Amino acid sequence: MREAPIGVFDSGVGGLSVLAEIQHLLPHESLLYVADCGHIPYGEKTPEFIRQRCSVMAGFFREQGAKALVLACNTATVAGVADLRRDYPDWPIVGMEPAVKPAAAATRSGVVGVLATTGTLQSAKFAALLDRFAADVKVITQPCPGLVELIESGDLHSPELRTLLQGYVTPILAHGCDTIILGCTHYPFLKPLLRSMIADDVSLIDTGAAVARQLHRLLAERDLLAQGMNLPVKFWTSGDPQSLRKILPLLGQIPSNVQNFDL
Ligand code: DGL
Repeated sequence: MREAPIGVFDSGVGGLSVLAEIQHLLPHESLLYVADCGHIPYGEKTPEFIRQRCSVMAGFFREQGAKALVLACNTATVAGVADLRRDYPDWPIVGMEPAVKPAAAATRSGVVGVLATTGTLQSAKFAALLDRFAADVKVITQPCPGLVELIESGDLHSPELRTLLQGYVTPILAHGCDTIILGCTHYPFLKPLLRSMIADDVSLIDTGAAVARQLHRLLAERDLLAQGMNLPVKFWTSGDPQSLRKILPLLGQIPSNVQNFDL
């Protein structure tokens, strides 16, 4: 069981920002990654639809013998993690949500910005997160439609992307925020572009590394940490395997074989 793989999924390539943190912290683990590109963007889908995709992914990874599951997607987590934990009570499942708690602790101006998908920002789970951790700070939320599609096409720098991103960042900066939460796993790939738009003393916070640490904790508790050699990451996509193959090296992964995911 220790040498069994870990299943990781996202609506697309965003979860690769989390995968990289897992590879860094847990280099012995074998990883399976599904990019649900055929159904992107999750951020504009209904919670019911996303819950159904989460259930398909979980069923697939169970069949693959995965010892743990990582929802490398904020939007999928707010919609689906509770059902998955109910359906698989003994399976280690790691979800993720915008880093409101660390951002509220870090801000000096008392204003925090959140860039995330419409689905995440409209969810009850996000509202609960604000109630719990952001009572003493002002939180400015900004949905970012269109960013995910550009990143999926391998665009991390174009003038079109810059203009779109600038339009999302300018209003939150105008409120005086000094801490920006990247509440969607696609956005860490925009950090270099974002840094060129904001002052040096504005921090960017994402949760990929915290997810890897939580995964490590859950595996260690159950004596499930892999000891031996890992296998190369296995990739699947419900979109076009050729497109994913092409974009992998741009996003920090080695070019790999990508299989078709048709569930
Ligand atoms: N990467 C996903 C997240 O963390 C969602 C992107 C999408 O809208 O599909 O929220």
